[in-house]
Amino acid sequence: MAGYLWQKGWAERNGGNITVNVTAFVDDEMRALPPISEPRPIALSGSSASSAIGKTLPHLKDAWFYCKGTGRRMRDLARDPMANGSLIRILPDCARYEIVADAPVAPTSELPSHLAVHDYLLAKGSPYRASLHTHPIELVALTHSRKWLEKDAATHMLWSMIPETRAFCPRGLGMVPYMMPSSVELAEATIRAIDEDYDVVMWEKHGVFAVETDIMNAFDQVDVLNKAAQIYIAARGMGFEPDGMTDAQMRELADAFGLPK
Ligand code: 13P
Ligand code: ZN
Repeated sequence: MAGYLWQKGWAERNGGNITVNVTAFVDDEMRALPPISEPRPIALSGSSASSAIGKTLPHLKDAWFYCKGTGRRMRDLARDPMANGSLIRILPDCARYEIVADAPVAPTSELPSHLAVHDYLLAKGSPYRASLHTHPIELVALTHSRKWLEKDAATHMLWSMIPETRAFCPRGLGMVPYMMPSSVELAEATIRAIDEDYDVVMWEKHGVFAVETDIMNAFDQVDVLNKAAQIYIAARGMGFEPDGMTDAQMRELADAFGLPK
């Protein structure tokens, strides 16, 4: 999947990150392994009393994650995952983690958003175990216009471009206003957007954040959305505003596929 991100042109330099909750694959032998780092804070210290996150992530106790390393490149990670990412385990205090891996690769700078979202998903009993942040060109371009930042404006346009987008990104595209990358505020706003019932949310003028059962499914949702954005742009490039499928055609799809919205 990291290789696909590079091929798509969505992963310039170290752009984007992935985390996967791998706790279900951890056995006693792994649990007995010594850490290769000192305990490190998850960095939720900026969270306020009214925060949606809190100072700890209680549902992540003893959970294990594969994380892309901060500053590491997706194209390198695709070839050598353990040299460009690492496994971390959350300590019983739910506020710190330690690295248990081949090399002490520091996890992504977006760890607050990723882990806060994983905590939220587990609290809800969700089967989702993977989260992806990437920089898809056409979707990011949309967020440079106020028109597409309105709630569900982009969702309806993208859904109407091709039936597959309606069917395979059935919750649409949430919007998170621009915030400082890697900040706790961004993590909180991401959870709020996912809680409005989206699997994919846009970070304005930055990228997408997607959650799914596994990392390939997360990629697929972003891929069908970005394909729709490309079709829109292709039509505009041919000099016309695309008609889009009608509401009745999209409702027919929702009924046929039993879609959630
Ligand atoms: P990292 O290299 O720390 O994962 O950051 C990449 C990125 O896209 C930040 O938003
Ligand atoms: Zn980014």
